[in-house]
Amino acid sequence: MKTFSNCLATFLVLLLLTSCTGSKKMIFLDEMDLTGMKTGWGTPQINKSFKSTPLSIGNQIYSRGVGTVATSTFLINVNGIGKSFHTKVGLDDSSNEEGSVIFYILGDKKILWESGLMRKGDSVKVADLDIREISKIGLLVADGNDGNSRDYANWIETRIEYSGVVPSPVLASIIEEGELLTPAAPAEPRVNGPKIYGMRPGAPFLYRIPATGERPMSFDVKELPGSLKLNKETGIISGTVSKPGRYNVELVAKNSKGESVRPFTIVVGNTLALTPPMGWNSWYIHYNRISDSLMRLSADVMISSGMADYGYQYVNIDDCWMRKENSDEPDLGGPLRDKNGIILTNKRFPDMKGMTSYIHEKGLKAGLYISPGPTTCAGFAGSLGHEKQDAETFASWGYDFLKYDWCSYGSVVKGRTVEDFKAPYKLMWSELQKLDRDIVFNLCQYGMGESWKWAGETGNSWRTTGDLGLESSSTMPGFFNIGISNAQHNEYARPGAWNDPDYLLIGWVGSANSMGEGKKTALTPDEQYTYMSMWSLMASPLIFSGDMAKLDKFTLNVLCNNEVIDINQDVLGRQAKILKYADNELIMVKDLEDGSKAVGLFYVSGNPPVPADYFEWEPQMLPKKIKISLKDIGIDGKANVRDVWRQKSIGSFENTIEINVPWHGAAVVKISKEQ
Ligand code: GLA
Repeated sequence: MKTFSNCLATFLVLLLLTSCTGSKKMIFLDEMDLTGMKTGWGTPQINKSFKSTPLSIGNQIYSRGVGTVATSTFLINVNGIGKSFHTKVGLDDSSNEEGSVIFYILGDKKILWESGLMRKGDSVKVADLDIREISKIGLLVADGNDGNSRDYANWIETRIEYSGVVPSPVLASIIEEGELLTPAAPAEPRVNGPKIYGMRPGAPFLYRIPATGERPMSFDVKELPGSLKLNKETGIISGTVSKPGRYNVELVAKNSKGESVRPFTIVVGNTLALTPPMGWNSWYIHYNRISDSLMRLSADVMISSGMADYGYQYVNIDDCWMRKENSDEPDLGGPLRDKNGIILTNKRFPDMKGMTSYIHEKGLKAGLYISPGPTTCAGFAGSLGHEKQDAETFASWGYDFLKYDWCSYGSVVKGRTVEDFKAPYKLMWSELQKLDRDIVFNLCQYGMGESWKWAGETGNSWRTTGDLGLESSSTMPGFFNIGISNAQHNEYARPGAWNDPDYLLIGWVGSANSMGEGKKTALTPDEQYTYMSMWSLMASPLIFSGDMAKLDKFTLNVLCNNEVIDINQDVLGRQAKILKYADNELIMVKDLEDGSKAVGLFYVSGNPPVPADYFEWEPQMLPKKIKISLKDIGIDGKANVRDVWRQKSIGSFENTIEINVPWHGAAVVKISKEQ
């Protein structure tokens, strides 16, 4: 017994001594919970490179470390009890192309060490730092700005010596349920959607009047051309108009609570998509898993969720409806075309015509995708040499929208002149013009040859950047960088011709890198409002590409605000200009048809960013007051200001307006000169 109490006493004395003197301990980066580490295209790798090969820098293999891809960030709490920080860094030899990165180690917002520009093949650089009294350490791998996004960057044998509490990662704050900014639609009828619509003479017309309000509802159209018919119960207008001209009609919706009337001009001429297309696309959620039944289900939900009541109408299949040579999946393989050269669908699309009829019966439209090259981006059959036949097949199947994706066409044409870039689009466009069906044409070639300057001659919209789903976050989420890049081309957008910064990736989306199953978006609620606000102000196509089967209240609240959508669909067809992008503020201004201005105010991370901007050092960022001068947006005297997301007036102002904007969030206001 005595021996036991002696032992216990000795143990307690030792424990006390240890905690007073603070014996040094060590933790390696690869032993930490890395869930909070942000890395370019996915998740960091422990003891291997981002490509899952052994960690290797300058042809030297290392057994211990963490493989990331730039831009990557990781914030660690060392709580002022850290002693030293040691690491080796370098670009992994598996980096596909010549890339370059800069490693930074920050302590409480200050740069403690930086590697300088490092390239593939450089041998490791070593950092040995004293980190006493530092409370948070930030690890950053920034892109070397060489345009290469495959910078596989390694932290080797990275370790912290500390005493006391073990350093722990700052975990990403839990994303709380977002505040629903859009008020619920009233029970009274309200006709939504565009006020103008283009069609070609003689082509089939199909339009479902988008209207919110209690059902049952009945519809009417005043001054409807005699060759068009309205179904008064469903609000679906169909038929055809052969005489070119502008037909000014009035769309009417009635229920037991009241009536709503909205002017609508049908322009029978040469131009389609007089306002940016709105709808859904399968890519970022279903990838090569897309099927007829998922398409039908998505069309069902477009109606049942109410999205169609706000103007969403296209239900578009992306890649992977065709066949793929030598596919391992029995459903997807087989001959690509029949003996007459007609393209064949894979087994997941047994009846294209039946499927588009199903979509059309709901008053919605159907879209599909193909490439001008021999294969699509996912390796399925392309249109090369069959352009005319494919255009005719798509029309005979009943399609209303075509996305034409450059992809393998690069292997066909060796030149890279503007004419080379234009050629495949010109060809398909001219085939589409010969059809007796209206097919909206979307160019997907990522902005090569400054496509915004010419794509309006051969299409209705054009992608201005690479894939949004592959864009990694920097100081702001990936969509923001894509949005800023798209915003530079504002002068080229006009009715019938739109800059396309890619889809709305919110709700449940699958990683484009792994073509994975859907997960709830990692964007905060405020970032999602920012996304929708930017796309609306930029008159971008509003094409949601998340899971229609998992639409939640919040996602619908972001997608379905009629006043925000009205800004996007405004008849004038202007794309917002950037008025300011500095001091953590982005301000965008869009001219509207009624003479008023739609202004987006965004509270963003630093521009140009300094390394500290890549981290959220404080758990809760306070909102920022952002000021605009009325003169700067071209309004003299007094103005009425309306908060568009909340759909309420915030009063009359003179000279300047100041608005509170949440961190990474947005305020959208409509400013009209007081009469
Ligand atoms: C490219 C496009 C995407 C998608 C895929 C399909 O990457 O940019 O939008 O269509 O091809 O394979």
